[in-house]
Amino acid sequence: MEKIKIGIIGCGNISNAYFNASKKFEIIEVKSCADINSEAAAAKAEEHGVSAVTVDEMLADPEIEIVINLTIPKAHVEVSMKCLEAGKHVHLEKPLGINYEEGRKLVEFAKSKGLLIGCAPDTFLGGGQQTCRKLIDDGWIGRPIAGTAIMMGRGPEPWHPNPGFFYEEGGGPMLDMGPYYMTALVNMLGPAKSIRGFAVRSFDERVAGHESIKGKKIPVMVPTHYSGSIEFHSGAIISVIISFDVYGHHHKPIEIYGTNGSLTVPDPNTFGGEVQVKVARNDWQNVGFTHGYTENMRSIGVADMACALRSGRKHRCSGELALHVLEIMTGFRKASENGGVYELETTCDKPAALPLGLMDGFLDSFQ
Ligand SMILES: NC(=O)c1ccc[n+]([C@@H]2O[C@H](COP(=O)([O-])OP(=O)(O)OC[C@H]3O[C@@H](n4cnc5c(N)ncnc54)[C@H](O)[C@@H]3O)[C@@H](O)[C@H]2O)c1
Repeated sequence: MEKIKIGIIGCGNISNAYFNASKKFEIIEVKSCADINSEAAAAKAEEHGVSAVTVDEMLADPEIEIVINLTIPKAHVEVSMKCLEAGKHVHLEKPLGINYEEGRKLVEFAKSKGLLIGCAPDTFLGGGQQTCRKLIDDGWIGRPIAGTAIMMGRGPEPWHPNPGFFYEEGGGPMLDMGPYYMTALVNMLGPAKSIRGFAVRSFDERVAGHESIKGKKIPVMVPTHYSGSIEFHSGAIISVIISFDVYGHHHKPIEIYGTNGSLTVPDPNTFGGEVQVKVARNDWQNVGFTHGYTENMRSIGVADMACALRSGRKHRCSGELALHVLEIMTGFRKASENGGVYELETTCDKPAALPLGLMDGFLDSFQ
């Protein structure tokens, strides 16, 4: 099979995960990488045996079909637009944009150009989340009626060398961590209908802990504690807390409660994790994975886009899904500022579940 050639823009912290995992998929091959910091691009090129180029050189290369955009959130839309203008399909890191309006423009622009746009997270294609999806689809817990999605921590400033952006517009726990949780929920439950929510800024400033900036005060410009509920079109109501303000807790990342039982869903920022199910009044049982890809497989969404390009089927980490997720996340703040309720205008299809029994390195069973 002819491989689809990939270019990576943004050679920072997360790029190694993409360089490494992309080697595991038969259909894609990273050809080149670029960064506004040319030294960063050169270092990754050497480490991974690809070419270091400028962004313009990459976009002028007719062999490159898909660009993976791993720049910082504030640059996501601008860099992705440039790639689309050059006729490239784009898969970008989360979030799709730092506000709903710019995310929508990006998805509409891709559509108008007849190009595919996709967005992280692709963790929902991992064995942990796919096993949960299968348990729900097969009716083990009955009809999902309620659940919880909880991510609480005290923020990244104790260890991060440059934590300021987490507390600027475009930062905060919802845009940083929310994509994993909201995407996992939509994958299992389908599209959401409305948000009831609060978004609060509990502290005026935070204090950096990293050696290089220890004690530095960081102004907080965005809400850091989100709480509320999401109403899904299916009727399920999920209680949500996403916070950088909490030192500790004992909640599981996600639980789904159905008419016939309960399901414990692993951390959606991982590909594997522990899946447990409780059917009616029986004891909790550990469930083995029904699907593979349980290690860090960041780029599986790109491989899925490549398969979609070749076969004409839909890709799973779609712009439509990412835009719906972005609207859910930003909807909490809008709800909080506007009397507590936000009705969503977007919807999306549930991404197709991965087939059972896939060969390692493949995403379609017919290959
Ligand atoms: N670091 C993580 O653990 C992690 C995990 C999952 C997702 N992400 C997401 O991945 C993205 C990147 O995160 P990171 O931690 O790798 O950040 P980073 O700051 O380490 O790397 C970003 C890179 O993008 C480059 N860049 C910025 N603007 C650019 C532009 N306009 N053109 C070309 N290059 C540009 C920077 O020079 C830098 O090398 C973010 O959206 C983040 O939310 C990060």
